Amino acid sequence: KIIGALRKSDSEPGSAVRVSVQGRVQRVAKQGGLIFVWLRRGMAIMQCVLTGDLSKTYDALTLIRETSLEIIGELWELPPGTHAPLGRELRADFFRVIAAAPGGDDAFLTRVPADFDTTSSQASEALLNLRHLTLRHEKPSAVMYVRGVVEGAFHTAYRKLGVTKVSPPALVQTQVEGGSTLFKLDYYGQPSYLTQSSQLYLETCLPSLGDVYCIEKSFRAEKSLTRRHLSEYTHVEAELDFITFDQLLDHLEELICSVVDLTLEDPIAAKAIKEYNPDFKKPSRPFKRMRYADAIDWLRGKGIKNEEGNDHVFGDDIAEAAERKMTDEINETIMLTHFPAGIKAFYMQRAADDDRVTESVDVLMPGVGEIVGGSMRIWDYEQLLAAYKREGLEPAPYFWYTDQRKYGGSPHGGFGLGLERFLAWMLKLWTVREACLYPRYMGRCTP
Ligand code: 4AD
Ligand code: MG
Repeated sequence: KIIGALRKSDSEPGSAVRVSVQGRVQRVAKQGGLIFVWLRRGMAIMQCVLTGDLSKTYDALTLIRETSLEIIGELWELPPGTHAPLGRELRADFFRVIAAAPGGDDAFLTRVPADFDTTSSQASEALLNLRHLTLRHEKPSAVMYVRGVVEGAFHTAYRKLGVTKVSPPALVQTQVEGGSTLFKLDYYGQPSYLTQSSQLYLETCLPSLGDVYCIEKSFRAEKSLTRRHLSEYTHVEAELDFITFDQLLDHLEELICSVVDLTLEDPIAAKAIKEYNPDFKKPSRPFKRMRYADAIDWLRGKGIKNEEGNDHVFGDDIAEAAERKMTDEINETIMLTHFPAGIKAFYMQRAADDDRVTESVDVLMPGVGEIVGGSMRIWDYEQLLAAYKREGLEPAPYFWYTDQRKYGGSPHGGFGLGLERFLAWMLKLWTVREACLYPRYMGRCTP
């Protein structure tokens, strides 16, 4: 940050400010006797110009992308409309190479061309092998920046709402979302798992801390490769005490809208969203609310088939493809509610007016589909025991969860939101893999 006006031209007043900048070469352009260097420090870029004898040195003539440099010179304000990132230019009178990057076959842009296409799976696998380098490109780094801002926005939103942050364990001995996606591990000789969701632990915090949330990793051994499934993802989860199902839905609307607002308050994040998703707009409240049974009718009406290729019937899981089609065609945020108990998790509370269905909700976003799964939880002791039985779960490892129903149970509910899916929606990413620093999915655990 520079205090005061910079020099604009020899004839105008302004201070001569000498600065030293360090960074990596983003771009080099030779024009006449001048060499323009865009020097990158993190995401910020400074235009530097080498003139006179400086531009004739061997180091100057061989500058290449990713070489790190120190440049010292005078900082000038450029006329408005000039094509320089900060509207400023560093007129160098000294520079030195801190560490040279290679050229030839090993050159940065040869290994990771800037115009890669992430929609081709072959190309994207090759690029993900080089994720440590592709991150230096503009879009990947902007996406990671927005990710940081969005995560911060969840914290801010919850601080404003007076919801307390907690940190549940990742190593657990209970499942939450079904046994088929558990990562098992040997814990000092005892079987245990990487957590699929912090939900059950959050529920135990209600009597001591009140409403709570966490942003933690969840792990799923997903045995399929899709655009929206990861093996390790970041899960924003909250649990709210003494609420009704409608209050849970209202809370989700409020949270999502407030996180969008807070994110757009950050100018760099707002610029990235505008660039990569020009049509992005905050969902308008109230969100469209649709019962599962009506979604089934809608799918039948459109002739969209289930996974077996038949018409959807009540009780069918709405698979990813059908869900995406529906969300994209309706083209607005949908809160899909009241799923049948048979296709949902064991802990979900039944609806008072229809015992076949649960007080459950998925929030669906155009371009992605499900980004949130939530529900009211069974809070009656006997009903929970019956639920373990139905699910074939051995109740013993859940003793701590069951105990909550013994000592002052309460109607309560919560949800989990996949941060990478939220980002895929806001930034119109082809896949959630683009929303991870180093994505983990079946077949990839490196770099
Ligand atoms: O719908 P899910 O499985 O719900 C739960 O885990 C609840 N226990 C959460 C809760 O109520 N506290 O997962 C919640 C969300 C999904 O809507 C999705 O956004 C994300 O987590 N998610 C995944 N994201 C990336 N890769 C995966 N394999 C994911 N599985 C779930
Ligand atoms: Mg779900």
